[in-house]
Amino acid sequence: MTASAANPSSRVAARNARVLRCTDICREHVRIEAELDGFPASAPGQFLQIQCHDSDDPAARLIEWTDMPRTGSAGGVASADETAWLRRPFSIADRRDAPDGRTQLEVISRAIGPGTRWLSKLRTGDTLNLTGPLGSGFRIAEVNRPMVLVGGGVGIPPLLYLARALAARGAADVTCIFGATTRDLLPVPLRGEPTSDSTPTPCVELPGGAPYPTLVTTDDGSIGMRGYTTQALSTWAATRAAAESTLVCACGPDGMLRAIARLTRELRMACQLCIEKPMACGLGTCLSCVTRIRDGRADGGWRWALACTEGPVFERDALLEYAS
Ligand SMILES: Cc1cc2nc3c(=O)[nH]c(=O)nc-3n(C[C@H](O)[C@H](O)[C@H](O)COP(=O)(O)OP(=O)(O)OC[C@H]3O[C@@H](n4cnc5c(N)ncnc54)[C@H](O)[C@@H]3O)c2cc1C
Ligand code: FES
Repeated sequence: MTASAANPSSRVAARNARVLRCTDICREHVRIEAELDGFPASAPGQFLQIQCHDSDDPAARLIEWTDMPRTGSAGGVASADETAWLRRPFSIADRRDAPDGRTQLEVISRAIGPGTRWLSKLRTGDTLNLTGPLGSGFRIAEVNRPMVLVGGGVGIPPLLYLARALAARGAADVTCIFGATTRDLLPVPLRGEPTSDSTPTPCVELPGGAPYPTLVTTDDGSIGMRGYTTQALSTWAATRAAAESTLVCACGPDGMLRAIARLTRELRMACQLCIEKPMACGLGTCLSCVTRIRDGRADGGWRWALACTEGPVFERDALLEYAS
């Protein structure tokens, strides 16, 4: 593997990290901060595969073939007693490196099944076994242009890490648009009450003190603007004279990504999408994460790509699933 800005190290580490804190951010999300040694360089948009069960859990070691786990769970299977056997993928939500070589990583997890419920019970001092960094992240060659980071729900975490990275590179014209269904499912710490009109304000505490203004949207209007992230992006674009030079970086539910792809195409904005396909291995071996991408050299002009290695971040126009 060749290292690039989207994938800055060809190294992937499997490590035990020590949990520093696991804190509730809102009704269903926790933020896990963990520390480890020798974690390779990473980029926003890359992810971790996390073991979501106790290492000495006998249910994870003794599998009776007559007692097969249920299937159909994206990214893995769980045993009848709710042990998540396979590692689960999580975006890196933040990263801080200390001079002594230790790294602090953050993950924001929404409890929706056995693996994420196990994560939400972590305590200070617990061990978290993780593999990473995996995949290819956002490819930002030029920071002297308007950029909008659009995140929905558990799609927000990679954009928090991206905000830190852009601030470190001196990007000045960055706006965040973060959406949730309702107030107590918004997985970000607030510095102030978001506006309910279309004025972005520094209402969200972004990593590394990134100074970027944010528009918050909720489907029910319980905080921020009522409506979807696409409506906020349209309103933002209407305030800009040269919206065409904008790069939109988006991550969120599939419906949101399709709508963002359509809107940015209409507005003639460049766009990169971080897609969250079911991922059983995260390492390019199981083929659970395939997606179709344009490729002029392939028969028919397209080929299958693995979202876990070539993605999860892709240029919008490469992704056939988001073509219309
Ligand atoms: C690259 C990537 C990054 C991710 N980053 C985050 C993150 O930062 N924070 C976070 O909370 N979650 C994130 N996810 C989703 C997370 O991996 C799943 O929520 C987790 O695997 C669920 O595990 P579980 O055992 O709790 O539930 P499961 O029983 O495995 O799943 C519960 C339900 O959610 C559905 N589901 C699970 N994963 C997906 C998926 N990828 N796409 C569609 N449906 C799915 C299942 O079909 C099932 O119905 C990410 C996924 C990917 C692929
Ligand atoms: S998750 Fe296994 S090949 Fe991509």
